[in-house]
Amino acid sequence: MRLDAVFSPAGLGSTEVQGRTAFVIDILRATTSICAALHHGAKALIPAGSTEEALRLAQTIGSDDVLLAGEKNCLRIPGFHLGNSPLEMTEPTVRGKTVIVTTTNGTKAMLACQGAAAVYGTCAGNLSVSAERAREVLEHDGRVLIVCAGRDGAFSLDDAYCAGRLIAAALGGQPSRRGLNDAAIASLDLVRRYGDDWHRPLRRSRAGRELIKQGFRDDILDAARLDAYPVLAHFHERRVTLAPVPV
Ligand code: MLT
Repeated sequence: MRLDAVFSPAGLGSTEVQGRTAFVIDILRATTSICAALHHGAKALIPAGSTEEALRLAQTIGSDDVLLAGEKNCLRIPGFHLGNSPLEMTEPTVRGKTVIVTTTNGTKAMLACQGAAAVYGTCAGNLSVSAERAREVLEHDGRVLIVCAGRDGAFSLDDAYCAGRLIAAALGGQPSRRGLNDAAIASLDLVRRYGDDWHRPLRRSRAGRELIKQGFRDDILDAARLDAYPVLAHFHERRVTLAPVPV
């Protein structure tokens, strides 16, 4: 078994990604928003690497059923329909829509994993179904990669804690450290430090403090809701769609 985590996609070469199953985490807030949108009936989400790319994609698709979403410095991008808040991804807003989304770190992390055998978006909201899929992959293939979006190419507490929770849930019981890289071990240690309390590491992270400053305290509370959006968010051929949940 080989379970590697990375605290940021910076420096992630195609050899690390190729052929692996990757779980991408940007709990504050991109992967939480994506899971909220899928759970509430969005047809698909298309991660874009920049505002310009998002606008280009919207033009190419050119349908009324497309929404533009995302943030710059936590705030909605001028002219976009939605920001990057899971609370905006309500059923009346997103049902049946294709949502093109661009965020500072999260969508870039997803795009960095193209070339993987499979890519899933993970957050607290879909932790159990993601962990179940990770467990299946470990059993059949033995190799899982967890990619934290991090912040500006560096470690972020919120994503690393979520990575630890994913590893703990996938391995179950008292997980052995065998087959884990150092980042995976450190993520598990964060779970020992913070226990089951999602809210504390999220609130204490730099992203969390920034969101509180910008008036998004409720987004942190939402991102801390375990299994609130129990969807398997599968990123494939440039789109994130629902994959069947493991039974
Ligand atoms: C990111 O991609 O860096 C975050 O999702 C930003 C945010 O929460 O606004």
